[in-house]
Amino acid sequence: MTQDELKTLVGQAALQYVVPGEIVGVGTGSTVNKFIDALATMKDQIIGAVSSSEASTVRLKALGIPVFDSNAVEDLSVYIDGADEIDHHGYMIKGGGAALTREKIVAAQSRRFVCIADESKLVTALGAFPLPVEVIPMAAHRLMRQFAVLGGVAKLRMKDGLPLVTDNGQHILDVTGLQITDPLGFESQVNQWPGVVTVGVFAHQKAHVCLLGTPDGVKTLKFG
Ligand code: 5RP
Repeated sequence: MTQDELKTLVGQAALQYVVPGEIVGVGTGSTVNKFIDALATMKDQIIGAVSSSEASTVRLKALGIPVFDSNAVEDLSVYIDGADEIDHHGYMIKGGGAALTREKIVAAQSRRFVCIADESKLVTALGAFPLPVEVIPMAAHRLMRQFAVLGGVAKLRMKDGLPLVTDNGQHILDVTGLQITDPLGFESQVNQWPGVVTVGVFAHQKAHVCLLGTPDGVKTLKFG
């Protein structure tokens, strides 16, 4: 099976977690796009979605799924999203698609986080994937130096020759060379640095379930 087929498999499998008659939280990325396509087949059974990015909003609306502002919804029963890495505790690195801030917000307002991923995303320790960090542009260079103190190398993410601008009007640093042995502590530490909007470690907003696409089918991992 190709990676694309594995993504389709888990995108479809996630439908079992969608609660009829409710609003579902929707993440961002190529795996979530498969989920959105699958969600369209049951759009008449749900009220709509809260979306974590402009890109997902466009896709949801194009398929006739109503999108609600997160402020208009108190809480969500489930949030479905992908990951760049997920470990055996359900801790993740996210933000490869630059949507990490809104993803963390929607995850925080959801009672259950269902991660959908192909098996290449499962790791024993987080940190091989460059860690995305959304930052206020004027703090970027200072934050690069702070990551250097931790042994990391931070690069400003570029698009078409210019710094990438997120849906929130901010920039992204991608940090390599970090040893993230304590994801909860690391997330708390970096969150406190002035100028950090969101760090792409999702430990406080970890996954409760992971639907992992493997050549033998979908494996369900449950985290305490
Ligand atoms: C976007 C994300 C995505 O969930 C992550 O990058 C995985 O994407 P994909 O499903 O395309 O591999 O965090 O900000």
